[in-house]
Amino acid sequence: MKVAVFSTKPYEKTYLEKFNHEGNHHLVYFDNSLNLASAEQAKGFEAVCVFVSDILDENTIAKLASLGVKLIDLRSAGFNNVDIVAAKKHNLKILRVPAYSPQAIAEHAVALILTLNRKTHKAYNRVREGNFSVEKLMGFNLFGKTVGIIGTGKIGTAFAKIMLGFGCKVLANDLLESKELQAEGVHYTTFDEVLAASDIVSLHCPLTHETKHLFDSKAFDKMKTGAMLINTSRGAIINTSHAVVALKKRKLGYLGIDVYEEEESLFFKDLSESLIQDDVIERLMSFHNVLITPHLGFFTEEALEQIVKITLKNFSDFEKGLPSENEVV
Ligand code: NAI
Repeated sequence: MKVAVFSTKPYEKTYLEKFNHEGNHHLVYFDNSLNLASAEQAKGFEAVCVFVSDILDENTIAKLASLGVKLIDLRSAGFNNVDIVAAKKHNLKILRVPAYSPQAIAEHAVALILTLNRKTHKAYNRVREGNFSVEKLMGFNLFGKTVGIIGTGKIGTAFAKIMLGFGCKVLANDLLESKELQAEGVHYTTFDEVLAASDIVSLHCPLTHETKHLFDSKAFDKMKTGAMLINTSRGAIINTSHAVVALKKRKLGYLGIDVYEEEESLFFKDLSESLIQDDVIERLMSFHNVLITPHLGFFTEEALEQIVKITLKNFSDFEKGLPSENEVV
């Protein structure tokens, strides 16, 4: 099948080429993202293969359909960047990679917690400059602390198990309660109760109409003063401007984010010699107790291999007209 692969990074191309063994699929790579302005590039392709920074809104989807595209294949689990209603209207199938390595993202959430808490990033820089002082590097024990999880699906489950291993008390809120986690000692309760009782809150629910800006000023007010908030899910679950206020008021003690609501214009790009126009992220970057990583939770060898293998299988299944459990319906 002839596929236009958008937002391609060199490491993805390497993996796609490696696993597209027999050249089953004719992949054409574009390093720019897919949006209305670039949609014309999909002319002559049956499928587009996209990532989290591609914007497939109604107009873009209408354009893709008019060019003869039949499949939108996401190299991600989240699909909030695709207008599903518009895709249905225009008869475009959407396939994704629902699960590839939940541990990769869960472990990254833990990395954010440990770095913010034990300040290893600051110690590293200090020691390189010959400063061996431990002043202002004090952290806290995770053992015995209460960790709240919003969303205990695949990633939330992997994260819960790690935090239980640290000796934390784990509270959770989800529309569905996992018997497996309950048996391991996770206690399900209301959203408000999770916020009120947790020293650390980690977000693992998808971005939906219900979860957009779930963490706004009202939610921050419900949290323990000085608590840590970790977001490896999707940026817009947090109202970032409200988070800035909560940080300034010292209500929020730490913020660790791998995702940001305006990340499309920033993440996955080297802007080291550009003037960043986004004042909100600039303000966030100025806080000593904020840690930002550029959406790299998924970025492990194991996860990338799985993403690529499932993506190629999605192309093959579509081509053969096979039903797929990876279809977004
Ligand atoms: P999943 O579908 O297995 O789990 C999501 C859970 O959230 C489900 O149990 C669902 O019932 C729950 N949920 C939905 N709405 C909720 C609400 N309003 N309140 C509480 N819980 C709610 O998804 P998975 O695989 O665990 O992924 C979670 C999210 O992680 C994805 O939607 C994606 O946005 C993000 N992600 C981030 C990556 C990164 O690189 N940082 C990589 C992969 C996924």
